[in-house]
Order: sequence, then structure tokens, then C-alpha cells
Amino acid sequence: MIKKGIILAGGKGTRMSPLTKAVNKQLLPIYDKPLIFYPLSILMLAKIKDILIIVNKGQLDQYKKLLPNGNNLGIKISYIEQKKPRGLPDAFVVGERFIGKDNVAMILGDNFFYSQSLTNKLIENTKLKNGAKVILHKVQKPELYGVAKVNKNNKILAIKEKPKKFLSDLAITGLYFFDNKVVKYAKNLKPSQRGEVEIVDLLNIYRSKKKLTAQLIGRGGAWLDTGSIDDFYKTSSFVSAIENRQGLKIACIEEIALNNGWITKKQILSLIKFYGNCDYSKYLRNLIKK
Ligand code: G1P
Repeated sequence: MIKKGIILAGGKGTRMSPLTKAVNKQLLPIYDKPLIFYPLSILMLAKIKDILIIVNKGQLDQYKKLLPNGNNLGIKISYIEQKKPRGLPDAFVVGERFIGKDNVAMILGDNFFYSQSLTNKLIENTKLKNGAKVILHKVQKPELYGVAKVNKNNKILAIKEKPKKFLSDLAITGLYFFDNKVVKYAKNLKPSQRGEVEIVDLLNIYRSKKKLTAQLIGRGGAWLDTGSIDDFYKTSSFVSAIENRQGLKIACIEEIALNNGWITKKQILSLIKFYGNCDYSKYLRNLIKK
């Protein structure tokens, strides 16, 4: 079972400047909660309790105000400040001590997933023992993402980062599951032309060893990445539409912790105090009334 997960919440933040000049992108709102709650909720739904958040230099204090150490969620959150964003696989080099001898999941801090049977699918992925697994989703503009070409059995035939020539319309989402070899492989990667180590190069190592598998979210699910200001608004509208219609919150990390049996109703009370008088607290209060 994969019990450790990394949230990569660094990045240059240039695409959303000036919004991200003083505040890390993952702390900006997607509708009623900070963006970081969404990827965190995905790891929690996968029953991953030991979580490393990699943040940019100088941004640790902002995060600790919001998510001090995970105690109040029944999980363990630790942080590492990254000196310089050097590409996604660098997370496994920076996080080497955290990973230790274990397998690990990684989610990019700006990725949003919503799908009916997501929890079961996530848990299935945490059973990975050897190799690596990527999550694919059909998109209209594959040239904006890493893409994968698969055969009928979802076996990966080829992968390419932001291909100019059409390869497939299946994007490689920012959620990955790796065996422990990932640390060694990540360390040996050479930077690409844009001066960063690339996730597709890392995935290609697994593919060449026939150790890369894929899971598709399927057309009933949503995968949105919040790379631009426009995406932020679109994702916020999506969350608002679903939450207001159903009266259920997406990515309420306290609700997930409670459902997983990691915290008690009494602990929710102290979280209500922590957030103060707000709609989010009202929602938490309703949870413990049931
Ligand atoms: C990164 C990865 C890309 C992946 C995408 C998912 O791209 O390089 O393979 O499809 O995340 O969000 P970036 O968002 O850094 O351009």
C-alpha cells in the first residue's frame, strides 16, 4: 500500500502574476476554499496520511497558518521549502528523506479531480507495488499537457510532453503513483532544453522497462488544472454549481478525515473555532449534528 504522498506546490507562479507575487498560487481561492485543499483531499481520499508539501522558498509561514502539521486532521503534514523550481521530478530528489524506502504518490498542487467512483479508483492505485502509474483524461487541447497514447488494454505505447503534432487526446494528469525506484531515476535525469527535469522523461524510464501503467478517469469525471486565471474562475464556477445544488462540499478535508475515522466530532469543534464564524464552519457544524 502506498502510504506517503507529495503535493508539489512550488512553481514559478509567473503565469498568474501579479496575483501570485505575494501569495502562493495554491493558497488562492477555488470558490470557497484554498486551492491546496483540493489536491490534499485527493490524497486523503486515497487514505494517504503521511503527506509532504513542497513549497517555494519563503512561503512556509503562509502554509503553516492554514495547515500547521495535520494533527487536527488526523494526518501528518510536513513541509520542505524548495530553493528553486527545477521541474516536477525534482520533488523526488528534494523529498528523498521523506520517501525513505517506501513507494509514493505525487499530486501537483494545481490539479483538480472530481468523479463519482474516484475514491475506489484512488485506493486501487495505492496498491501499486512495482513500476509507475499515471492517470489519464481526455482533453480538447492535448498540446497543453503531457499526453499518452494507449492501446485497447490501456497499455502505454508512447508519451510526449506538450506535443506539437497530434499523438493522442489523453492528457497525463498531475497525479502519479511510483515505486521507490523513482528517487534513483529522478536523480539521474538531465534537464531538458527549457532547463528543467521533465516528468515525461521520468515516466519514459518506466515505460522503456514496461513498468508504466495507466488508469482512465472516464467521461463522467472532471479533471481541471488551474494553470491560469481563467481556469481559476472556471473551476470555481464548477465547484460552486455542484456545492450549491447538492449542499455537499467538494474537498472539505475535515469531512474526509471524519469519514475516514481519523478524527472525532469533538475535534471538528476545535476546527470550527480555528476557522471562526464563516460558512465553512457552518458546514462543519452541520456535519457533527448528524
Ligand atoms: C505539467 C506536466 C504535464 C502534465 C500537467 C498536468 O505541465 O509537465 O505533463 O500534463 O502538468 O497538470 P505544466 O502544468 O507544468 O505545464
